[in-house]
Amino acid sequence: MRRHNLFCMAIVGACLFLLFGFNDQTKRVHTPNMLSVAHRGASSFAPENTRSAFHKAVELRADYLECDVHLSKDGELVIMHDDKIDRTTNGNGYIKDYTLAELKALDAGGRFGDEFRGEPIMTLNELLEEFYDQVGLLIELKNPQSYPGIEEKVVSLLMDYDDMSSIIIQSFDVNSMRKINSLLPEIEVAILIHPSESILTAKKLDELTSFASYINFNVSFLSKRMVDNIHERGSKVLVWSKKDKRLVAKAQKFGVDGIISDFSIWPTDEPIYLVQE
Ligand code: G3P
Ligand code: CA
Repeated sequence: MRRHNLFCMAIVGACLFLLFGFNDQTKRVHTPNMLSVAHRGASSFAPENTRSAFHKAVELRADYLECDVHLSKDGELVIMHDDKIDRTTNGNGYIKDYTLAELKALDAGGRFGDEFRGEPIMTLNELLEEFYDQVGLLIELKNPQSYPGIEEKVVSLLMDYDDMSSIIIQSFDVNSMRKINSLLPEIEVAILIHPSESILTAKKLDELTSFASYINFNVSFLSKRMVDNIHERGSKVLVWSKKDKRLVAKAQKFGVDGIISDFSIWPTDEPIYLVQE
């Protein structure tokens, strides 16, 4: 009898989860007229900046995959966020001190979850080969001043692709983006604005928008007036946030052009995936 009751409770529990839990998990938010950009891939669901996270983002119908790029010791363009491998892999030390072969031997998935154990890092070349035809790519050059020649390497790789209209290169480093723009004017570049420098004068805006198609902000350090000022100059705005659960609401209120998110389930009663429908 007791076993029968337990069995019934398990069945009821499973049904309730399917009815309510699953529905909540799949709730989507409409983001009309805004691009949805998967920050380091769908990094709420899979290890950031890995093939799994990028595939998940495509599955969730992201418009763009965002990724971060560094140079290995032997000059290969590798995808990882931090300049050190400690946080996201089973290794330690700086990316620049390892060859691509050594970096490829690392486990970039196990820290996120056992089911991702053994997942290798990706190169930018592999990302392009696998995803270029499926989805837009927002490629961030991380600390490019630490990697002399990185801009030339990225441009040389992109030259293999005839149509670059679905690729954007971004960085916090204005000089690096100027260089990309001068080497390859047909590719769109974006300037990431550091929160500490988020009040931009008209002169600075004129300067940045003269070559950058996008000026991208942490949503907590942006105003509608700033968005309007950028739009008046013919450039666009993407916003990101790692914590602000009002990211979508603010983005809509400010009238920005897209949202860069982890496709998070925010810690609210209203779980959301940022997917354009
Ligand atoms: O694309 C915006 C965002 O990626 C910038 O911050 O630190 O996640 O690279 P971070
Ligand atoms: Ca980034």
